[in-house]
Amino acid sequence: MEIEEACGLGLCFGVRRATEILKREAITYGEIETLGPLAHNQQLMQGLVEIGVTPVDCLEQIRGNIVAIPTHGASPEILSQLRARHIHIIDTTCPIVQQAQNAAEELAIAGFEVIVFGDAGHSEVKGLLGCTRGSGMVISGIEQVAACLKLSAKDRGFRRLGVISQTTQTWPVFCNFIKQLMGKLTTWDLENRENVLKELRVINTLCTATQERQRAAKELAQRSQLMIVVGGYDSANTIRLTEICFSIVETHQVEIADEVDSCWITGKQHIGITAGASTPDEIIRDVVKKLKSFVG
Ligand code: F3S
Repeated sequence: MEIEEACGLGLCFGVRRATEILKREAITYGEIETLGPLAHNQQLMQGLVEIGVTPVDCLEQIRGNIVAIPTHGASPEILSQLRARHIHIIDTTCPIVQQAQNAAEELAIAGFEVIVFGDAGHSEVKGLLGCTRGSGMVISGIEQVAACLKLSAKDRGFRRLGVISQTTQTWPVFCNFIKQLMGKLTTWDLENRENVLKELRVINTLCTATQERQRAAKELAQRSQLMIVVGGYDSANTIRLTEICFSIVETHQVEIADEVDSCWITGKQHIGITAGASTPDEIIRDVVKKLKSFVG
């Protein structure tokens, strides 16, 4: 049985960078609170808790005066509330997320109504929305477009539309959304002659590290009989890897090695492994070890 790892898996540079910053700062400050988890992986978070870095869910739960912003970033509103409380901020926002935030803000300043394509409940999306200076809306599916555009046209009379995406969306999904959006806009223009769209600007805010992992996972899935995806169940990029692989071949997502079931590998000669961008290296190694233990 061959076990092959995707060429590009596990910790992305953004999470690796954030972890290193926090390990360094924890030596200086002892106790640090993070506003939400650094990344969506329980094992990674547990490792940080052991060195004094603990997540809190919201501003009200902050007890100390050293707070880290996780890789997903935070809205300007949250940052100003922290500053108003004289809290020292350690910013570990991923540079890719920072670029997406800058794009959102620049569009808003230039007078665009900003569509943030992504999951409304995700902390990164909340941060992106917070950068649109009140002129943004989150859309997670094309079925929401008509209602959002009508509402915006009526309430704000916008005629210039900017689109950005949650960084961990897939390229095909984002492209398909833009294509469908164009279709809706044509209808919308015809129905609302007084609100004809003057300009549509699409900015690619997708993360290249995520795209590379997705491409590598897809390639590997195409020549494997089974894919194991290692990563947190609440990690958006891990879930997308699972969806991509699942559409091609039998796929199982696990958070830790103990979840790997020996019956999955029966009759399989080629097993592929990939992992989400917040999965620690040692967890991936444990999963590979577990798989190897089944074949003796
Ligand atoms: Fe950043 Fe992409 Fe990782 S946005 S945190 S490099 S998945």
